[in-house]
Amino acid sequence: MKKEEFDAVRQQLGGVSRRDFLKFCSVVAVGMGLPLSAGVKIAEAITSKKRPPVIWLSFQECTGCVESLLRSTHPTLDSLILDHISLDYSETLSAAAGHQVEAAKARSIEENRGKFILVVDGAIPTKDKGIYCKIAGKTALEILNETAPHAGAIVAMGSCASWGGVAAAGVNPTEAKGVPEILNGKTVVTIPGCPPNPYNLLSTVLHVLTFNKLPELDQKGRPKFAYGRLIHENCERRPHFDAGRFAMAYGDEWHRKGGCLFKLGCKGPETYANCPTILFGETGAGTWPVGVGHPCFGCSEKGVGFSTPLHTLATIKDFTPPTFFAEAFPNKQGIPGGLKSLATGTAGLVVGAAGAALLTSLGKKDDGDDRRSDADRHSGDKEE
Ligand code: SF4
Ligand code: SF4
Ligand code: F3S
Repeated sequence: MKKEEFDAVRQQLGGVSRRDFLKFCSVVAVGMGLPLSAGVKIAEAITSKKRPPVIWLSFQECTGCVESLLRSTHPTLDSLILDHISLDYSETLSAAAGHQVEAAKARSIEENRGKFILVVDGAIPTKDKGIYCKIAGKTALEILNETAPHAGAIVAMGSCASWGGVAAAGVNPTEAKGVPEILNGKTVVTIPGCPPNPYNLLSTVLHVLTFNKLPELDQKGRPKFAYGRLIHENCERRPHFDAGRFAMAYGDEWHRKGGCLFKLGCKGPETYANCPTILFGETGAGTWPVGVGHPCFGCSEKGVGFSTPLHTLATIKDFTPPTFFAEAFPNKQGIPGGLKSLATGTAGLVVGAAGAALLTSLGKKDDGDDRRSDADRHSGDKEE
């Protein structure tokens, strides 16, 4: 990328240096599982004059998804997205309102048929013909059904838009559904999370911008680069799981020492997301729920988050310890270096699984019926 090209966008990027900008693009490329060299292509796409039109619809939501995007700071993620797309309609962010903004939306759809990116946050109520969420006199159901057929790509941002999330939890009084269910048969990129990590939206938009196609998706419509691995595989507390060192109560010894939160109901073993690798908050300290001592509740996993109580134990899908973490028994002496990781892996496998089973049964004794049903669930688990 030429210096003049970068200078033209420096202002919009909040004055970041060319070097930092290229570094950022390379990190985005690696995060998507692409070679480092793809960073240059991404940088070119960002600095090109192409600005894909985006229509952002917000339905049954709490604005957390939009907030998470706006609260990011470095390197001005909101600028990267908002200055390099043409945000033609957003109920939350548009300066215009009423008839004016509705007219802008209609014009954008007309002028960009098949080309605009449709982003939706929030669930869609379907009970009583969808009357529980109306904007400009139309139900969310009507708005989605009349906008989606003209979109070039559709992105469901957050768990509510992906499968109903909070709005669909429990008794689901409005019969809320996610975008894929409403648009049955259409390809919808889902970026679940409550709220989702804004980098996953950024990476998806940049992928479309750079390669003119969607990233590879899993069966739930999630980009594989972000949702291809279990949280449990990349969690920094994993060596404690493998060694059978569990926090049994908030504030106890192993909770304070950074032990595994499995026994506190962590759903990392059955939740696919990149939370432990890309982190949240840009505090410099790099935070994420499990990192600060709270069990993952599976907010990005349909069928786990908002449907399973926090105190129940997760279904373990991956018993094999990763090879890239610190060993489970750092004080163990006398194992030759070459055999160490094998030994650690095997010991971790056995102790982790046995420890989990043992502690599950201890929990069963101590904690009554809920734990008992978890033990039953585990007994049928198979390693995948
Ligand atoms: Fe709010 Fe979470 Fe739903 Fe986003 S997914 S709208 S943050 S409740
Ligand atoms: Fe990390 Fe949770 Fe897995 Fe423990 S159970 S290793 S805290 S993801
Ligand atoms: Fe959600 Fe678990 Fe990540 S609660 S934010 S999927 S750590």
